[in-house]
Amino acid sequence: PAPTPSFPLPSQHSQQAYDPAADFTSKWTRADAKQIMAQSNPNVTPGQNSMSPTVTMPEIPKDFPAMNDDVWVWDTWSLTDENANQISYKGWDVIFALVADRHAGYGFDQRHWNARIGYFFRKTNADPAKDKWNYGGHLFLPNSSIGNTEWSGSTRLMQGNKINVFYTATTFYDVAERNAGGGGIAPDAVIAKALGNIHATKDGVTFDGFEHTKLLEPDGKLYQNKAQNPGFAFRDPYTFADPAHPGKTFMVFEGNTGGTRGSYKCKQEDLGYRPGDPHAESLDTVNNTTGAWYQTANVGLAVADNKDLTKWSFLPPILSANCVNDQTERPQIFIQNENGKNKYYLFTISHQFTYADGMRGPDGVYGFVGNGVRSDFQPVNNSGLALGSPTDLNMPANAPEGPDPRQNGRQFQAYSHYVQPGGLVQSFIDNVDGVRGGSLSPTVKINFQGGVTQVDRSFGQNGLGPFGYLPTNVRVGGEGLY
Ligand code: FRU
Repeated sequence: PAPTPSFPLPSQHSQQAYDPAADFTSKWTRADAKQIMAQSNPNVTPGQNSMSPTVTMPEIPKDFPAMNDDVWVWDTWSLTDENANQISYKGWDVIFALVADRHAGYGFDQRHWNARIGYFFRKTNADPAKDKWNYGGHLFLPNSSIGNTEWSGSTRLMQGNKINVFYTATTFYDVAERNAGGGGIAPDAVIAKALGNIHATKDGVTFDGFEHTKLLEPDGKLYQNKAQNPGFAFRDPYTFADPAHPGKTFMVFEGNTGGTRGSYKCKQEDLGYRPGDPHAESLDTVNNTTGAWYQTANVGLAVADNKDLTKWSFLPPILSANCVNDQTERPQIFIQNENGKNKYYLFTISHQFTYADGMRGPDGVYGFVGNGVRSDFQPVNNSGLALGSPTDLNMPANAPEGPDPRQNGRQFQAYSHYVQPGGLVQSFIDNVDGVRGGSLSPTVKINFQGGVTQVDRSFGQNGLGPFGYLPTNVRVGGEGLY
């Protein structure tokens, strides 16, 4: 819909592609993100959903099933190849997820401090509505990964039965911090990988032989480090090939703009208002009165320097959200052919509580489209919002551990959305009207083309597909065997 008169117009973005190594970072601007409110209904009954149904995830029922009774499950990803295809390996679908013990005496909100990568498998031709995912346990042996906590990443099948697990090695130094959920000594975070073997038999899938390599630590220049901000973000590696640059392997990840926390000054290009827009904020007002400069998310880019993918170099971020939002998490690049041309969709998840002063948006997945991996990205639907949990954006932002009872009870129903081939969007259940999750959500479908996305409500039941539906679209080995 057209912006209502009291809102600024979105920034103009050309979608022009630049060389991946070029010093150009696309801006998700305040003018762009203000379209979220411009497109939200200011007059809903308090606590209803104020967003357009086209960007609202359908409501998850409160009586959702638990995927596993022993572990909470959150951020999840499939076994893929370098083109984001989801691989069936010798007749098995395999997924990887952050897991934490449900019976260890800490609560769901302490999961981050106790996270390990677990895996699940099920037959490729299983009925997704009936057949459960089999839990295979932790992927790595105890105390074998780099760091003491394993955060998100991605897993790629390489030659033969070799897999590369790219992950975030987070190290906490403080037992109190792990048990209390924050506030102690700041953790370290590095991006790492583990090369290992996948084995499939008629009984299931196992892994062994992992060799762990540290790949990247934040440099403090392009990417903020711990000395500059104890709450820095440096995580969630996702690797891919770009048909425009054959033979190269790239990685996107979550970062923050380099520099000491609080020292950033918002720039005109972070605001992104069109010249003469009567609803533009002035740079002085934003820099002198808001505190918006504390929010400095970016989506980082790195390129592999060798075929083994053990050596990487940073490139400038492909997107920044300076003065807009502090976290652009679990980024992924999804290339789609539109009218004979490759369009690069960058998807990333973000929260309501990480928005900058003066900005408001829901927990969900955000999208950007351009002509290359480094582009002047156009935010989808002009705002960037692709799919949010039902939220009354007229009310102040909350966090999942302490929602306002007057808010829509489903504002935190799901998070960590991951866009799969065919527009299937998978996520985990966080808080459905007070019932905490720790299990995979019903998969939903978005259709996207030309930078416009739309929830497909004809998919599944009123838009909700099977719980934890992560189908494979490419088969490797084992045809007819199982
Ligand atoms: C997203 C996230 C990731 C991180 C993980 C830690 O839900 O914040 O960025 O890797 O959760 O639990």
